[in-house]
Amino acid sequence: MRPLIGTGLKMNLTSSEAAIYFDELSQLVAPLSSCEIFVLPSFTSIWVARDRLRGSNVYWGAQDVHPNEAGAHTGDISAAMLVDLGCSFVEVGHSERRRDHGETDEMVALKVRQVLRHEMTPIICVGEHIRGRPEAALDHVLRQARTGMSLGSEADRRRVVIAYEPIWAIGEGAIAADPAHIGAVHRGLHQLATRVIYGGSVDPITAGPILAQTGVDGLFVGRAALDPKQFAAIAAIAARTKS
Ligand code: PGA
Repeated sequence: MRPLIGTGLKMNLTSSEAAIYFDELSQLVAPLSSCEIFVLPSFTSIWVARDRLRGSNVYWGAQDVHPNEAGAHTGDISAAMLVDLGCSFVEVGHSERRRDHGETDEMVALKVRQVLRHEMTPIICVGEHIRGRPEAALDHVLRQARTGMSLGSEADRRRVVIAYEPIWAIGEGAIAADPAHIGAVHRGLHQLATRVIYGGSVDPITAGPILAQTGVDGLFVGRAALDPKQFAAIAAIAARTKS
């Protein structure tokens, strides 16, 4: 299995900025065929990803989706709209969406089902609020992931990617979780999903030791990936560590 290295660009980059970003990134990662790489821009730049990344080794996707097929949901985006733009991955339940939009594990389950119905790969984000022992963290994230995956069939569930993202390790001023902690949580999460990736303050320094842990199948990079050179450096580390 190739390591899965992705980024959610969050609420960054206009479509014009994204075009420059995609052009630079696709060049930098072109030699890294031993990694599976994806970017999740904001909705307004997905069409740019389709235009600029088509034919490259970078997949693209979205940071959210509506659980319903279509209809009276002002401002929302459906799974069919994402498929139409060539999306492969859809992130569901990031802690910032849970915080800003009150998303619950039950809402995550509805969205995951919708992504699976449309043959895209859901990335379910789970994570505990407070730094503690790996056993306690695992207990929490298993509960989140079980609910989030509860509406898919057994076969569908094997397609789900789980992103372990401890909330205390995400964002400006935070530092990545300890590799041993991450490894322990990932090995536990593997009872639910084939691919478990880690997110939270990943950068070119922390990437190697985290990827060296058994059970870590890839990385979900935030702010470091806003610089395509750093994102490509992390992907290169993954290609080396996991090959
Ligand atoms: P960060 O974000 O790398 O900026 O901590 C990670 C994430 O939210 O996935």
